[in-house]
Amino acid sequence: MKKIDFYYFSGTGNTYLVVKKMAEIFEQNGIKTHLFKIENIEPKDLNPEHTIGLGFPVAELSTFSFIWKFIRDIPSSKGTKIFMVDTLAGFSGGIIGPLRMILKNKGYNPIGAKEIIMPSNIFFIQDKITNSKKVEEGLLEADKYAWDIIEGRSRWDRIPIISDIFYYGSLLALRLTHSNFNQKYFSLKLANDKCSKCGLCFELCPVGNIRWSEGQYPQYSMNCEYCLRCGSFCPQGAIFVPFNYKNKTYSAVKAKDILK
Ligand SMILES: Cc1cc2nc3c(=O)[nH]c(=O)nc-3n(C[C@H](O)[C@H](O)[C@H](O)COP(=O)(O)O)c2cc1C
Repeated sequence: MKKIDFYYFSGTGNTYLVVKKMAEIFEQNGIKTHLFKIENIEPKDLNPEHTIGLGFPVAELSTFSFIWKFIRDIPSSKGTKIFMVDTLAGFSGGIIGPLRMILKNKGYNPIGAKEIIMPSNIFFIQDKITNSKKVEEGLLEADKYAWDIIEGRSRWDRIPIISDIFYYGSLLALRLTHSNFNQKYFSLKLANDKCSKCGLCFELCPVGNIRWSEGQYPQYSMNCEYCLRCGSFCPQGAIFVPFNYKNKTYSAVKAKDILK
């Protein structure tokens, strides 16, 4: 392995930290590693001559729809090595097996899959000390996984049946997420009295769901994927995340680290 192109998305910074740690280990071992943000790149531009890494957060027992779309649209290959890493709060369900099958069918050679537990950014946000301990442990796992890839110990096994069941359950859940009902009644809500109209939420949104122009309040459309970037990084705490207990939010990094 001489070159790795690492395609990743991170909503609130966990995946970014893991991908960055792995890239550091690859670089220290003389493997040129390029990081690409999934939200900024067309899948057709992926170079199937280089070893490929995929990094993303788990969402709704698999991952966000726009990441599935990116993966489904990547070009076919003739045996390019590919590995994946996801970050999660506890349980991922149906991603590793189905993803492996999609990539195998496209001609890739899946060499490693790893799920790394990091702090939860949804529902119950834990205290800062617990979260930083989790980050520390997660980054140790990332370090070890990068070494496993370099030294040929990593594996990407298929987990049949159970992961397929969760996969189809997840696809159903993602459909509900995109339904007009969900987008209307469970959307992130902006408190106009707190908003400073800075437009950071507009810049952060990976799917173009927020419209904004100078001096105006941001407007949400109906295509939110709930990555929680806007709510987590709003400097005024003006975005209400309906399912987070006591409206607490989590971020592992500063907004500038993950900006488009
Ligand atoms: C909409 C949404 C759904 C999630 N679903 C799951 C899940 O099914 N299983 C899980 O273990 N974690 C889940 N999480 C937690 C994240 O996967 C986890 O905190 C991840 O590390 C966040 O990565 P990021 O900071 O790179 O966005 C979910 C988070 C969000 C925002």
